[in-house]
Amino acid sequence: TIDQKVSELLSQMTLNEKVGQLVQYSGFEYATGPQNSNSATVLEEIKQGRVGSMLNVAGGEETRNFQKLALQSRLKIPLLFGQDVIHGYRTTFPVNLGQAASWDLGLIEQSERIAATEASAYGIHWTFAPMVDIARDPRWGRVMEGAGEDTYLGTQIGLARIKGFQGKGLGNLDTIMACAKHFAAYGAAVGGRDYNSVDMSLRQLNETYLPPFKAAASAGVATFMNSFNDINGIPATANKYILRDLLKGSWNYQGFVVSDWGSIGEMISHGYAKDKKEVAEKAILAGSDMDMESRAYMAELPKLVQEGKVDIGVIDDAVKRILVKKFEMGLFDDPYRYSNEKRQKEQTNNPENRKFGRMFGSKSIVLLKNQNNILPISRSTKTVALIGPFGKETVANHGFWSIAFKDDNQRIVSQFEGIKNQLDKNSVLLYAKGANVDDQDTSMFAEAIETAKKADVVIMTLGEGHAMSGEAKSRSNLHFSGVQEDLLKEIAKTGKPIVLMINAGRPLIFDWAAGHIPGIMYTWWLGTEAGNSIADVLFGAVNPGGKLPMTFPRTEGQIPIYYNHYNTGRPAKNNTDRNYVSAYIDLDNDPKFPFGYGLSYTQFKYADMNLSSTNLTGNQKLNISVNVSNIGNYDGEEVVQLYIRDLFGKVIRPIQELKGFQKVFIKKGESKEVQFILTTEDLKFYDDELNFDWESGEFDIMVGTHSKDVQIKKVNWIK
Ligand code: IFM
Repeated sequence: TIDQKVSELLSQMTLNEKVGQLVQYSGFEYATGPQNSNSATVLEEIKQGRVGSMLNVAGGEETRNFQKLALQSRLKIPLLFGQDVIHGYRTTFPVNLGQAASWDLGLIEQSERIAATEASAYGIHWTFAPMVDIARDPRWGRVMEGAGEDTYLGTQIGLARIKGFQGKGLGNLDTIMACAKHFAAYGAAVGGRDYNSVDMSLRQLNETYLPPFKAAASAGVATFMNSFNDINGIPATANKYILRDLLKGSWNYQGFVVSDWGSIGEMISHGYAKDKKEVAEKAILAGSDMDMESRAYMAELPKLVQEGKVDIGVIDDAVKRILVKKFEMGLFDDPYRYSNEKRQKEQTNNPENRKFGRMFGSKSIVLLKNQNNILPISRSTKTVALIGPFGKETVANHGFWSIAFKDDNQRIVSQFEGIKNQLDKNSVLLYAKGANVDDQDTSMFAEAIETAKKADVVIMTLGEGHAMSGEAKSRSNLHFSGVQEDLLKEIAKTGKPIVLMINAGRPLIFDWAAGHIPGIMYTWWLGTEAGNSIADVLFGAVNPGGKLPMTFPRTEGQIPIYYNHYNTGRPAKNNTDRNYVSAYIDLDNDPKFPFGYGLSYTQFKYADMNLSSTNLTGNQKLNISVNVSNIGNYDGEEVVQLYIRDLFGKVIRPIQELKGFQKVFIKKGESKEVQFILTTEDLKFYDDELNFDWESGEFDIMVGTHSKDVQIKKVNWIK
């Protein structure tokens, strides 16, 4: 068995060779953190068996060359190659928050299947994804990489992504190891500032932030990654509570934990340890198995073992976890099995993958406003003007974290090209940039205004720069960057009908536009086929069905704002109630767009919500059904959402909690009965002593098209 093989190998390893397996360095071509690799030393260390894994080494030839070095070591233990495969690999797909807006678990899984197939063909064994951090603060740049604010949706999406990456199981050539990150609570960094502290109750941590990780562990995700933040004063990288007590304790997780880039060393800056030796000791004892680029383990762990500060059993356990994965990946049978230039060629610019990307992109778009059915636009519109800094962008469409993208023969479809391809031959498409992404230059306004004046319809493409969301990309100002909003106001003065496409990796704030512009689509960053995906929706080949996976605030002052908050002792009665209630005196209470919101070119009507019982006992199940009719003029997809509210509890419960959703396709003029089943598992929560259970009582059951538009029925559920 693999266990026997691992024990046999371990028994031959010296202490240095064991610690070597716990070391990961970055290659030299890309850096996804502060770079400090010294190439000559790293290559030498690999030959000596003092390196277990490389990140950012990719490509058949490159990985083979590195692997050859590892095979010169005494025990010939192969390297693991890891890379951030975040939203596609060579073919890029929508940024993950955009994918989440599709609420389509099948498509999300399929996109990771494709990403894994492409990445493994480039010699990659392991991705640092999915990021399953729950994020309620759009100032945090990494919201683009996750599934948004909700624990239930985030858990389902995380599981779909793991399934996609790991496919039929590790060792199959088209699969890669997944990594649940960042463990834990990284998304709750104070003020949305990246790398910042997290201070929260253990109840909140367990109830809101940990479930996607726990589910990932149960689903067999191959690895976990630490997060940069501290949790209640203890850095996550050396946090025994989450790593030893939960992950490797009660969750019984058998995979391994890699640090984040430098996060072991950074515990000195946190003020948790005075030097590299102390950080190494604290991290390994807490359960962090592999050191990514801190260079603390190799330098310090052998000494710590010799001095008796770290038991060799702790090292052996970490090494075993890593070796098991190398065996499972088949690397001991053939260390070069993923380094295959023929497969690499097939998976470069693969037309089938692009086709999927085009479709997935269109399903991620969220239609926010469609006054007087300005959308879809007719293909025979005589003159269309595309205005804005993103119109002819290509590379930007990839969004942040598209590391494998290279400009060689990898065509990216710009919005201009996508729109042009679908306009009738006799129609004209004009273009004006109007403004740069992020400066104060208004000199291009005049040309843009003139262009708009010539058009029958103006399509504005605005937002934030593609590199303004992602790691280390926190923003305090969430408006369109630079002078883009001024440009929009100037173009609006022409009186031309305007459709606004918003390009972003996070919820932006565009209160003025939402009030004045008749058609608004949120297009995120959609990847390689972005221009085609957008044109498919603009012209109606695809009817948009995306829904927001995060609440969109009116202004930065409302942040953090999320749908599943508590009621408080003084809830506001309505949007403008400010009479000694929990509200701001200078702001409306509601968000601009609520969680789960998104329009379609058709209309859906909800009727006949029906419960199998309103009085339930013990472990009975509740069947819920609702009739959804498509009463508009287009076939379309609707995400039917199920929420509950536990009205009274020994700890207070949120005003709504998502407990299920179904994406259904309904032809125009037709109806579908959508059914859900709730069990007492869905009613469980953590109390103040961290017991996880449900209580007898009254519950609101809500079904609807988004969190603020639901039908409600009450049930009593008694133990
Ligand atoms: O995987 C990433 C992580 O999410 C942030 N720091 C760098 C890692 C490796 O690139």
